[in-house]
Amino acid sequence: MAQRRLVVNVDHVATLRQARQIREPDPVAAATLALLAGADGIVVHLREDRRHIQDRDLRVLRQTVPQLLCMEMASTSEMLKIALDVRPDSVTLVPERRAELTTEGGLDVMAELGTIGEIVRTLNESKIRSCLFIDPSMDQVKAAHRTGAKAVEIHTGRYANEGPDPESELRRIQDAVRLSSKLELGVGVGHGLNYRNIEPLALMPEIEEFSIGHAIIGRAVLVGMDRAVGEMKALVG
Ligand code: PXP
Repeated sequence: MAQRRLVVNVDHVATLRQARQIREPDPVAAATLALLAGADGIVVHLREDRRHIQDRDLRVLRQTVPQLLCMEMASTSEMLKIALDVRPDSVTLVPERRAELTTEGGLDVMAELGTIGEIVRTLNESKIRSCLFIDPSMDQVKAAHRTGAKAVEIHTGRYANEGPDPESELRRIQDAVRLSSKLELGVGVGHGLNYRNIEPLALMPEIEEFSIGHAIIGRAVLVGMDRAVGEMKALVG
């Protein structure tokens, strides 16, 4: 089985800080605690509206995270410039809409092949791992492969939201995960994953990376980061 990584998204620590526009709680401190508790890496989404993570956070994280640092970002020239300057280990391109509460869907890679392909090429040339956040669709996986991206993150939101048919959502995820792996793309999953719904995904051997934010940070508020990360790490296997 591929080696499993749990990467912890600390955006919500920044959300709490921004609620008061002061310096605490610091997502950088949360990232250090998450790594000490066994996380394999840290994820932050630098949004165009800077609603939670700030440019300073990304820069300080680059200085303080010795392990995997992943930046999620929109496919814009502003964000690409920041990524090339700060040099996270990995960049995940995500669709971004200002009014959304959180990332709502995967990229439409087919519709944006030109823009996405160009950013992927630049990231690859700069030796920053390129990853595309896509819905569990065979067509999107194939399009992601065509861009030359090194990895995909399959959107698990619809499964996690317990829609009318979670079993068929799970099958869609499984098919997309298998095809990605067959095409030799790195395979991650993320969005809405929590301590109750992770198990069926943990049983899919092709998944290399689990990207989890809200559930871990929400639990850490109540039981502490050490326990919150440790319990998820045990479930991810
Ligand atoms: N992966 C991506 C691409 C995301 O945009 C998010 C949300 O920021 C996550 C994973 C984490 O989702 P959650 O906070 O629901 O665990």
